[in-house]
Amino acid sequence: MTLPSKVRIVEVGPRDGLQNEKKPVATETKVELIHRLGRAGLKCIEATAFVSPTWVPQMADAAEVFAAIQKLPDVSYPVLTPNMKGFEAALAAGAKEVAVFGAASESFSQKNINCSIAESLERFRPIVEAAKAADVRVRGYVSCVLGCPYDGEIMPLAVADVAVALIEMGCYEVSLGDTIGAGTPERTKDMIEAVARRVPLKRIAGHFHDTFGMATANIYASLQMGIGIFDSSIAGLGGCPYAAGASGNVATEDVVWLLRGLGIDTGIDLDSLVDTGSWISKKLKRESASRVARALLARREAQSAAVA
Ligand code: HMG
Ligand code: MG
Repeated sequence: MTLPSKVRIVEVGPRDGLQNEKKPVATETKVELIHRLGRAGLKCIEATAFVSPTWVPQMADAAEVFAAIQKLPDVSYPVLTPNMKGFEAALAAGAKEVAVFGAASESFSQKNINCSIAESLERFRPIVEAAKAADVRVRGYVSCVLGCPYDGEIMPLAVADVAVALIEMGCYEVSLGDTIGAGTPERTKDMIEAVARRVPLKRIAGHFHDTFGMATANIYASLQMGIGIFDSSIAGLGGCPYAAGASGNVATEDVVWLLRGLGIDTGIDLDSLVDTGSWISKKLKRESASRVARALLARREAQSAAVA
């Protein structure tokens, strides 16, 4: 199959990337990160999550973060909303796009949002309806599509059932999350095939975590299946508070590098992305998880040493 000529990247660093940080990250750092990502050319930046601060303390400043963003006209800033309370807060903050998040695994659904899969879908339905009435777009997530930290293996049909339910209730797109990075390319293809039988390809996104270093391989496999939307996180930040051992999302720098090598247009400035990843990694006092960023920074240093 020919690969898509264009790929849309959904930057999830400010939300998925930061939600699991143990030490508080300053609101102004979160906002500055979002501004830098916008300047690097990202067109969709998941900004924060209107979730319970008891469950995810790092997202407690959602309203402050959202209010402080100087929104660029051609950029969308979706936020996570697990229930009507979160949706109403997001709407009051001025969000134009929200995301509901379910799971293909019963145990993960309970641990993450304190309800069964069926209950979660019933909870999402009024959000989608209220969003429609308010002219707010809704994205849907399915977690644990290639394995669950509690239930183990997940059947592709279980993923497809939840994805279909989200699309049928009105989500414009469904993001399939390999929350614990357990996927391999062939299993990724089997899972996508099961979903794509019932959901149009252009409404499916891939959300890969890089726990076992397979994320870019899984993205390549997804591209071969015709998927053209991927979530990623600057500097590979992240993890999930309800999936022990889950490492970060695939790094945005690594995805852009992969796509560039395949001749696929993203409209993102890789140098500026590398600078942003380097900046946030310093703020969080850690090395970037992006191997592409580390290699490009080492190359830059070698070049400036050669000139000096
Ligand atoms: P619950 O305890 O069942 O909720 O949690 P509740 O309705 O019984 O309310 C309990 C308390 O929370 C009440 O406060 C509510 O007001 C408050 P109290 O009366 O005790 O003072 N509350 C809220 N506060 C602020 N915002 C809200 C909200 N809702 C209730 N929206 C709930 C249920 C869904 C709220 C909780 O489980 C929760 O917030 N979960 C979110 C967990 C989360 O954010 N996980 C990470 C994101 S998912 C992810 O990372 C995966 C993804 O990246 C894809 C992938 O990688 O696979 C998307
Ligand atoms: Mg995630």
